[in-house]
Amino acid sequence: MDIHIVAGKLEEQVDDVLVRFGEGKASEVLIEPAPVGSEARFLLTIGLGEEAKVDLEVIREATGVALASARGLKISSMSMALPSLDEFPVDELAQAVHEALLLATYSYNEFKKMSEAKLKLSSINLIVDRKQLATATKGFNRAGVLISGVSLARDLVNQPPNNLHPEALVDVARKIAKNSHDQISVKILDEAACAKLGMGSYLAVGAGSEFPSKFIHLTYTPKNKSKQSFAIVGKGITFDSGGLSLKPADAMMTMKCDMGGAAAVLGLFSVMTDLAPKVTVHGIIAAAENMPSGKAMRPGDIVTAMNGKTIEILNTDAEGRLTLADALCYAVTLEPTAVVDLATLTGACVVALGEEIAGLMSTDEDLAVDLLAAADRAGEKLWEMPLPPRYRSLIESDVADLRNIATSRYGGSLTAGLFLQEFVGTTPWAHLDIAGPAFAERPMSSYLGKGGTGYAVRTLAEWLSQLR
Ligand code: BES
Ligand code: ZN
Ligand code: ZN
Repeated sequence: MDIHIVAGKLEEQVDDVLVRFGEGKASEVLIEPAPVGSEARFLLTIGLGEEAKVDLEVIREATGVALASARGLKISSMSMALPSLDEFPVDELAQAVHEALLLATYSYNEFKKMSEAKLKLSSINLIVDRKQLATATKGFNRAGVLISGVSLARDLVNQPPNNLHPEALVDVARKIAKNSHDQISVKILDEAACAKLGMGSYLAVGAGSEFPSKFIHLTYTPKNKSKQSFAIVGKGITFDSGGLSLKPADAMMTMKCDMGGAAAVLGLFSVMTDLAPKVTVHGIIAAAENMPSGKAMRPGDIVTAMNGKTIEILNTDAEGRLTLADALCYAVTLEPTAVVDLATLTGACVVALGEEIAGLMSTDEDLAVDLLAAADRAGEKLWEMPLPPRYRSLIESDVADLRNIATSRYGGSLTAGLFLQEFVGTTPWAHLDIAGPAFAERPMSSYLGKGGTGYAVRTLAEWLSQLR
C-alpha cells in the first residue's frame, strides 16, 4: 500500500474515490457519484458527529470506516482530505489519520501462499492545503514511525509459535541494535549466565521446553547525556501451554500471543532512534517457552528469585509472574528512575476490563497519571486498578516466602500485581496487564483488525517523548 501526503484540493484529484470528512453522525457514510467534471468515480463523505465530541480517536475510527467503505467499492486508489477542525493542530490530525490508515491496511501474509491477486486498493493520498503541508507532513511522518514499530510488534505476535522461539526474539533484538548506528546496545544472557545471577524463578519456566530460554537486555542511549533512565520489561512467553498445569485446548489456541509484551518492547526499540527520546531506555525480555515435559517445573516446586525470595510454584500456568520476578529484579539493578512492565499476565484482567482495555497497577501515582495520559493521547485504552495491601496475605505460602497463585479465586489481576511488586523494591514501578488488548480475537476498532495489535507501542512512545 502506498500512502502519500499531497498538497492540493480534493476536487482536483484523479483517484477513483474522493473522501471527505463532513457532518452527519460519527462514522456515518454517504456515497455519491463524483461531481460532474471530476475524474473520480465516487465521492464518499464520512461523518464526524457532534463537533464537541470529536477527538483524535473519533477521527481514527471514522478514517477506518471510510477506508472499509472505499474498499467495498472495488477501487484501486483513493484521495482523502484532511478534516478541517480548527481546535486540532494540523500535525495531530495528519498523524491520527495516517495512523488509522496504516493500522487498517496492515495484514500478516507470511504464510498465505495460495491467495489470489485481486483488484485491491493500492494507493491512498492524504490531501492537505498547500499552506499546511509542512506542518501536516510532520504528523504524517510521526505516524509512519510509530506504526512501523506497531507493525513489527504485530508481526511478532502473529508469528506461529513453531516459528518463534526465544532465540527468534534474540535475532530481532540483535538486528535492532545493528541498525541503530550504535545508539542501541544489546546484551544476551543464556541460561548459564541467568543461573549465575540467581534467576531460579525465570529458569524454572523454560525448563520443560526443548528451546532454551534467552534473556534480552537492550539499551538505548540518547545523543545528549541524560540523568534519567527507564526500564521497560516485556513478558516474553513464546508459547504458553500452561506447562504441567496444562491449559484446556480452547484456552491454548491464542497463546502464541503470550509474548505480546516482549513484542511491544521490540517494536518500540525498532523505532527508538527515530523517536529519539531524551532519556536512557532499557528494554528487558526474559524469553521462554512454557511446556510440559519430564524436565518441566512441577506444582509444589520451590524456586529462588534473583532477590533471594523463595516462591512455591502451585500452578505452572501462572508462569508470567515467575519470569517477570527475575526480569524486574534485573531491571532494578540498573537503578532506573522507574520500571514499567507489559505483560499478557492474567485472564482475570480480561474478565474485569474486557478485550480492549488494559489494566494498570502502579506504586507511583505520578507515573500512573503520566501513563494514563500517554495512553489517552495514543488512542490505547488503559484503566487503573489498585494494589490493595490487604490482599498481600493471599499470596503468602506455608512453606516459602510467596506462592505463585493466590489462595482466593477472586481479584486475580490484583494478586498477580502484588506478586510482581515483591520484586521491584522501592523503585517506582507500573505494571500493564495487556492480556485483553494484545491480541484481538475480533476486530478491536474500524482500523485495528484481528490478531496481534502491537498494544502499548504507541502509549510507550508517547510517554517516552514527554520525559526529560
Ligand atoms: N498467559 C496467561 C494469561 C492470558 C490469558 C493471556 C488470556 C492472554 C489471554 C497466563 O500465563 C495465565 O495462564 N494466567 C493464569 C493465571 C492463573 C493460573 C492464576 C490465568 O489467567 O488463568
Ligand atoms: Zn500461563
Ligand atoms: Zn502466560
